[in-house]
Amino acid sequence: MTRLRIRASAATCALVLGAALYGCSGPKPAAVAPAAQPEPRQALWGDMKPVVSVKELMRDLIDPASDYVFDAVGTVIDKKRHVERIPKTDADWDRIRMGAVTLAEGVYLLKIPRPFAPPGDENNSTGPEPEELSPAQIKAKLEKDPVLWNAKIEALRNVGLEVLEIVKKKDTKELWEASYNLDQACESCHVQYWYPGDKALLEKVDRELERLYGKPIK
Ligand code: HEC
Repeated sequence: MTRLRIRASAATCALVLGAALYGCSGPKPAAVAPAAQPEPRQALWGDMKPVVSVKELMRDLIDPASDYVFDAVGTVIDKKRHVERIPKTDADWDRIRMGAVTLAEGVYLLKIPRPFAPPGDENNSTGPEPEELSPAQIKAKLEKDPVLWNAKIEALRNVGLEVLEIVKKKDTKELWEASYNLDQACESCHVQYWYPGDKALLEKVDRELERLYGKPIK
């Protein structure tokens, strides 16, 4: 209804315009440029309510989505030979695109206030040398500097967008780098909010190396 009315008045305006150039109401070029206004915030189409905690969102949405990208390239050992795994078929690229879309869109769910962990779950935050921050500590950190939290969100989103571009070009070489960037985007947030201790970080790196290359021989 509103759309129709706008279209009709635009048509009338066009007719009038033929006869008298300035006969229509509408934006006229201002003689003096008005002071820059802040961009109006676009309202959401509806309310957003969280279903799960950050921890569960990570486990069930962000982490599995990232595997579509992480698993797309890599070196696997097959019959004692190093073999490069790269996307080959359209289905392979489809999966990478699904991962990228889920990450780019899904990470914005971290802007909805939600608990960091399920009720009663305190993370590994107790004991003499706790590895992880408690949900309350993470929340306090976020509330002290929400800009940083949002920067980490945008950083991950950017990698999602980067991967989407790569999928369009089917550029396997760039996918290797994007996979590295993705890892950085995850870790740079985790180091801030989840396990900020250096020690915890080193242990995590050790675990990751062990996962990739097996236990070191002592
Ligand atoms: C904006 C910050 C942020 C980004 C970006 C982020 N995470 Fe997380 N992630 C967290 C926080 C905070 C926790 C810890 C929540 C808790 O345990 O209270 C977490 C926890 C996790 C967990 C643990 C879940 C569990 O069940 O214990 C996994 C797995 C995880 N993230 C994977 C990822 C991956 C993979 C990426 C990148 C693709 C990523 N995260 C990006 C903030 C982030």
